[in-house]
Amino acid sequence: MLVVLQLLLLLCVGSSVSQNFMTPTVNINVQIPELEKLQKMEEKIQTLQETLNKVLNENEARKIAFSAGLLESGSGGIGPFDDNWKTLVYKKVFSNIGNAYDSNTGIFTAPVQGAYYFRFNAHTRSPFNLGAGLFKNDVPQCSVSSWKSTTHSNASNGVVLTLEPGDQVHIKVWRNAQVYDNKDSLTSFSGFLLFPL
Ligand SMILES: *[C@@H]1O[C@H](CO)[C@@H](O)[C@H](O)[C@H]1NC(C)=O
Repeated sequence: MLVVLQLLLLLCVGSSVSQNFMTPTVNINVQIPELEKLQKMEEKIQTLQETLNKVLNENEARKIAFSAGLLESGSGGIGPFDDNWKTLVYKKVFSNIGNAYDSNTGIFTAPVQGAYYFRFNAHTRSPFNLGAGLFKNDVPQCSVSSWKSTTHSNASNGVVLTLEPGDQVHIKVWRNAQVYDNKDSLTSFSGFLLFPL
């Protein structure tokens, strides 16, 4: 009797299980568009993630700004040299975000393509001439000058340049001219990325 009951129970469970198996067969068809939706969402999320990573990387790469005074300490002049223009190596680094300025060479190297702004101040003690120029890849761009002045001279200039990655910018003191600096950083060089292009 017990065995018969157990068999009956098994049969009931079996039929309900097979019924449960039958029902989802219908549901699977219903779920296919939802699965496709999920897949599309996943693809969208992946694209968004890639875009976000790109934007974050670009944002990090665009943090480029530096300022440096000519002498780290003390006071003195550089020049005049009668043979050639000489690259100025600005030693007192106020800031160098992105490390694009090299205080061993005086050269700024653009890390990304973009519009950059540069400016430089120069001071000279009479009787020396003041003359310095900003160079892009060794080609003169803009200059400052005060020739045969009877007083100490100050001059400044600035320029917006479009640079490719690897383009180099630096300042040179002219032949037969001098730049002077002291603790006041009268002679300085600054630059920063305005925006990437
Ligand atoms: C240049 O700047 C120095 C330092 O501020 C100053 O002593 C000098 O008078 C300035 N020269 C002129 C011509 O203004």
